[in-house]
Amino acid sequence: MFISNSSKVSRPMATAPELLDATAALIRGMRASDVAEVVAIERASYQFPWSEGIFRDCLRVGYVCRVLCAERQVIGYGVMSIGAGEAHVLNLCVAEGCRCRGGGRRLLLGLLERARTAGMAEAFLEVRPSNTNAIRLYLALGFEQVGMRRGYYQAPGGREDAAVLRLALRGSAPPP
Ligand SMILES: CC(C)(COP(=O)(O)OP(=O)(O)OC[C@H]1O[C@@H](n2cnc3c(N)ncnc32)[C@H](O)[C@@H]1OP(=O)(O)O)[C@@H](O)C(=O)NCCC(=O)NCCS
Repeated sequence: MFISNSSKVSRPMATAPELLDATAALIRGMRASDVAEVVAIERASYQFPWSEGIFRDCLRVGYVCRVLCAERQVIGYGVMSIGAGEAHVLNLCVAEGCRCRGGGRRLLLGLLERARTAGMAEAFLEVRPSNTNAIRLYLALGFEQVGMRRGYYQAPGGREDAAVLRLALRGSAPPP
């Protein structure tokens, strides 16, 4: 089943004290010293998180790794590979208490801008079809589903498919 932007999801109410203002947060390159904070957010956000070693490898091989920081605290991150004309967004995550404040959108737009300036023609990403919040963000930025990878993700009962989404970067203006 292909995904569409018609999926209705309910937006949770923000609980004020734990919210750092993602709208005022800064985006900068991820450093090795950020990895512990990044991994803490990763573990709290995914059932099958990336290990610390994966993040260190991403830095080592020169992937585009960015963090979103508020009050000197890492509250989100994005990881993207670029090469052979294609960008692949490999991870995008915002700490649970800081979501729905535009941080994820800003991180992703920053990665896509980097891919554009590096001359990439298109960007791809995989997403669980059950991840309606992320899918809404991707569709809002112009991604379209181009395929499905069967059994791509680990899941509690076995495996889950991944929807493959694509965005043309050449000849398309970045969304506002
Ligand atoms: C996906 C994720 C990065 C979005 O980050 P975020 O900072 O909450 O997103 P933003 O506030 O920038 O929202 C941007 C858009 O995403 C969609 N969206 C994000 N969270 C949503 C929610 N809870 N309900 C409905 N739509 C949501 C909306 O389209 C929203 O645009 P709008 O505010 O104009 O309606 C965040 O939910 C997250 O980290 N999830 C866990 C990790 C994950 O699943 N990552 C994606 C892996 S493919």
